[in-house]
Amino acid sequence: MRTLQLHITGLVAGILALLLISGPALADGVSRGALLASMCETCHGTDGVGAKPMQSINGMDVKDFVDFMKAFVSREEASTMMYRHAEGYTDEEIQAMAEYFKDR
Ligand code: HEC
Repeated sequence: MRTLQLHITGLVAGILALLLISGPALADGVSRGALLASMCETCHGTDGVGAKPMQSINGMDVKDFVDFMKAFVSREEASTMMYRHAEGYTDEEIQAMAEYFKDR
C-alpha cells in the first residue's frame, strides 16, 4: 500500500513538473505557433516547405495566410483537404500559425 502511495505521489509530481515546463512555452506566441504548425507539416512539409505537388506555406504574408484559412472555412476557396483542416482553430490560433510560417 505504501509503495502504491509512493508511485501515485511520483506520478502527480511528474505531471506537475510537466505542466510547469510546458506552461511558459505554450504562453509564448512562437512556441504555440510551432505546436499548432506541427499538424500542418505532415502534409505541407517541415517548416511548411512542401515537396511538389504539395503547396509550400512558408514565407507567406500573414494576411494572405489568414485570408486563405478563412476562405477555406467559408468554402470560398476550392479545397479537397483544407476545409476540414482550417476548421476548428480560433482566430488567435490561425494568427499564431501565420506568424510561425511567415518566418520559415
Ligand atoms: C492532409 C493534408 C493537409 C494537412 C494536414 C494540411 N493541409 Fe493545407 N493544404 C492541403 C492541400 C491538399 C491543399 C490544396 C488545397 C486543397 O485541395 O485543399 C492545401 C492548401 C493550403 C493552403 C493554401 C496554399 C496555397 O498557396 O494555395 C494553406 C494556407 C494551407 N493549406 C494551410 C494549412 C495549415 C495552416 C494547416 C494546419 C492547420 C494545413 N494546411 C494542414 C493539404 C493539407
